[in-house]
Amino acid sequence: MTIATINNVIFQDKRVIVRLDLNLPLHNGRIIDTTRIERILPTLKKILSSNPRYVVILSHLGRPKLKTPKEFSNKDSLRPIAEALQKLLGHSIIFSKAAIGVELKTALEATPNCSVIMAENVRFYSGEEANDANFSKTLASLGDIFVNDAFSCSHRAHSSVVGITQYLDSFAGLSFEAEVTAIETCLEKPERPVIGIVAGSKVSTKIDLLLNLLNKLDYLFLGGGIANTLLCAMGHKMGGSLVENDRLGIAETILQKAKTSKCQLILPTDAIVSNKLIPNAATQIVDIGKIELEQAMYDIGPKTLQKLINTLEICKTVLWNGPVGVYEVPPFANGSIEIAKKIAALTEAQKIKSIVGGGDTLAVISMAKNIKEAKPNFSYISTAGGAFLECLEGKSLPGVEALKKNIK
Ligand code: 3PG
Repeated sequence: MTIATINNVIFQDKRVIVRLDLNLPLHNGRIIDTTRIERILPTLKKILSSNPRYVVILSHLGRPKLKTPKEFSNKDSLRPIAEALQKLLGHSIIFSKAAIGVELKTALEATPNCSVIMAENVRFYSGEEANDANFSKTLASLGDIFVNDAFSCSHRAHSSVVGITQYLDSFAGLSFEAEVTAIETCLEKPERPVIGIVAGSKVSTKIDLLLNLLNKLDYLFLGGGIANTLLCAMGHKMGGSLVENDRLGIAETILQKAKTSKCQLILPTDAIVSNKLIPNAATQIVDIGKIELEQAMYDIGPKTLQKLINTLEICKTVLWNGPVGVYEVPPFANGSIEIAKKIAALTEAQKIKSIVGGGDTLAVISMAKNIKEAKPNFSYISTAGGAFLECLEGKSLPGVEALKKNIK
């Protein structure tokens, strides 16, 4: 990894600003999942163990469309998240209603050494998303060193991710480093053969990703609506299956690219179909090409699953993004669950390195009983959504680039 990390940084007596992604899923103000907090604890603990002057945490929550501090809304306040972090970190956290300003500065000066202060949602300030130089400078004035442990925000050229690095020595935190290393492991220097399993409803949102993966991988398996659209472009009748009929041109581009690339494209050869998308619906197994008008493909069939399992067995690295069926409706989760189990077993047996990402993929993993959502069952599970996908598309991320020019 070409970016400087916190591994050799001396934090003693330094005022440290840490950008985290505490954009956690909330329901009625309650936190649904704390994985993102758990991931950043090692970074905070490492910094705190070397007695900094203080640590200021910056994060965003949601996408508030507010322009002035007076319009701050409780809905997007980080306060409940500060409470959860305090519990999991086992260190008291002072919550600040502001992310900049005299009041905050005065409070920081008065805090005892080693205090942790969490500032309110940086997106409450219009300067944040504009990557405004003055706002970045004001944020930077709170510290001596900047640590970014929010890889999942690195596709955003915002002040607390990019602008601030102009003014402070800046380093990647431990979870940031782990995420970049995991992605490099499968794209830049993978142990080969390497396979990608990509599924999702729309080929139109994944075209850059698919074209980049066809350049980098040895096998690419496609499922879901993406595969349906490609199969339709190949002339197969897909009945009522999800197909982007206005994107058949994109599907053809991908099929053409697959013909000239060294990567072997694997598409479903059979399907689990039904007339209805309801729990416990009557289903049938049919070959691709034999789907009736009133039927729709909601999962991959057994021949396809076996082909994928056989391919996984000869691979050394797998990247998985997206369930291959409509996993939310019980009979159609089977293919995705079997893939999760196979990858988990191969990883645990140290036969494959597995990098898994995407909210729906994680939901499938938690549906598959007896599989841990971490090592030893998966080498790395990404908590980043957009940033993970942009990396896989081969794009350079502004937050990562900013850390490459880190030392002032
Ligand atoms: C995420 O949840 O993926 C990150 O926090 C980025 O959020 P954003 O898409 O609102 O920038």
